[in-house]
Amino acid sequence: MRHLLKLSDLTREDILSILNLADQLKFERINGVQKDYLKGKKMGLIFQKASTRTRVSFEVGIYELGGYGLFLSSNDLQIGRGEPVQDTARVLSRYLDGIMIRTYSQQEVEDLAKYGSIPVINGLTDYAHPCQVLADLMTIREYKGSFKGLKMAFIGDGNNMANSLTVGAIKTGMSFAIACPKGYEPDAEIMKWAKENGEFTITEDVKEAISGADVVYTDVWASMGQEAERQARAQAFKGYQVNKECMKYAKPDAMVMHCLPAHRGEEITDEAFEEHAKEIFDEAENRLHAQKAVMVKLLK
Ligand code: CP
Ligand code: NVA
Repeated sequence: MRHLLKLSDLTREDILSILNLADQLKFERINGVQKDYLKGKKMGLIFQKASTRTRVSFEVGIYELGGYGLFLSSNDLQIGRGEPVQDTARVLSRYLDGIMIRTYSQQEVEDLAKYGSIPVINGLTDYAHPCQVLADLMTIREYKGSFKGLKMAFIGDGNNMANSLTVGAIKTGMSFAIACPKGYEPDAEIMKWAKENGEFTITEDVKEAISGADVVYTDVWASMGQEAERQARAQAFKGYQVNKECMKYAKPDAMVMHCLPAHRGEEITDEAFEEHAKEIFDEAENRLHAQKAVMVKLLK
């Protein structure tokens, strides 16, 4: 494993090995026995979109491992003024030991890895959010003990989260069901792969997807970059909401997860959110541990 560009590049063993290391790093942090696994290593953190969790967990994560993180906003970088990613990649490779990038196009992340000579981590594109899903898988295993026999239901937009969750769930042996309106399905190739490699279903019916689920996941109706579509999406996604009513169809001990930020009253009710706040904020915390594990794997 040289980069983390998307989960489909990883084997099941790669994923489990990251999760095991993440558990170990979490234990070491809680017990105050963490070592400087990345002493002196420098990570560039490029952001072309807003972020709370990804930015703070990467900055704190690299610091706790003994390294240094540079926050690089595209507003200030020449990349934001049109310097090609091929050149940026080769320049940054001369200064840094690793790059995390949050941007729009997946191709840009792939190009950064292709033209640079240091590990690249995808911190969210329109296509994928692998760091989030590693933290999600870590959280599911903490709560449920293993992935065996679990059903994950995703309610809402077939976006970057839906794409990466589909891959993560199928690779770890969970079944995956998505309920979304027509025209808002996940990536066609990912769905094809999921059907061939595991148990994947897609429906327009929330109750059908959620029925018997162990994990219920949702995300915003309009992602970053889709602000202009907000109203049309609010119309299209009406009814695609995690609430008390639809949770009746899930298993009684089902978890509710959300990558955050959440829009209460849209994809999830305040009531459902608060009832499951413990899981949701454990999930947010686990971003830190999972990403530290990824950085140790790639940079050490
Ligand atoms: N879930 C997530 O990636 O959050 P941020 O956008 O705050 O980084
Ligand atoms: N789908 C959301 C996820 C945010 C973490 C977005 O891309 O804005």
